[in-house]
Amino acid sequence: MAAKKIPLAIPDLRGREEEYVLDAVRSTWISSLGEYVKRFEREFAEVCESTAAVTVSNGTTALHLAMLGLGLRPGDEVIVPSMTYIATANAVRYVGAEPVFVDVDPDTWCIAPDQLESVITERTRGIIAVHLYGHPADMDAINDLAAIHGLWVVEDAAEAHLARYKGRRVGSLAHLATFSFYGNKILTSGEGGAITLSDEHLEKRLRTLRGQGVDQIRTLARSNS
Ligand SMILES: Cc1ncc(COP(=O)(O)O)c(C=O)c1O
Repeated sequence: MAAKKIPLAIPDLRGREEEYVLDAVRSTWISSLGEYVKRFEREFAEVCESTAAVTVSNGTTALHLAMLGLGLRPGDEVIVPSMTYIATANAVRYVGAEPVFVDVDPDTWCIAPDQLESVITERTRGIIAVHLYGHPADMDAINDLAAIHGLWVVEDAAEAHLARYKGRRVGSLAHLATFSFYGNKILTSGEGGAITLSDEHLEKRLRTLRGQGVDQIRTLARSNS
């Protein structure tokens, strides 16, 4: 007998998704400058209890952009959990830095805060905490340790949209948070990603890097045509 396959996730697209896609196609605003993306950034930031959301093409890009925005450089080290989707570590490699792996807590499967201190060196710049399978990492313990050592903290919330940690939404618990909207995620747009944050200066930097410096020119060109 053939083994029965259990899908990891089946996207539920029975709401107004089709209507919205058609509306976007008919408007011809099919890239990132359309009304839907602007509205999504506003509303997603709000539900994540952050002041801004910067959308990108997927969760891996969100992590890569976060590493660039935080000024990570070759030779730097970033602490990541040993159990995660590989994009968490790859994003660190994309800018020439080194991922340093730390084991996960056996109960939550998220990075074990009590194992962080032993791997911190003078090259450590930050910690990426992954909220694996929808379970938030122990952010208070991670943030406390990071503050002592002057490190930034990123939440990789690709798998944990709208989860709460001590009453607060993931996406608002560190310097910034990254999300994925891939088809198997809690919230999907087929492909897609975002960074949420509440730091205006960093947001500006992320938007400039995302647009490769030409954001404004493209906006003007499109709206004048
Ligand atoms: C923990 C984690 N980080 C990052 C990603 C990357 O997201 P994407 O597939 O949208 O690039 C995923 C997606 O599978 C993930 O589960």
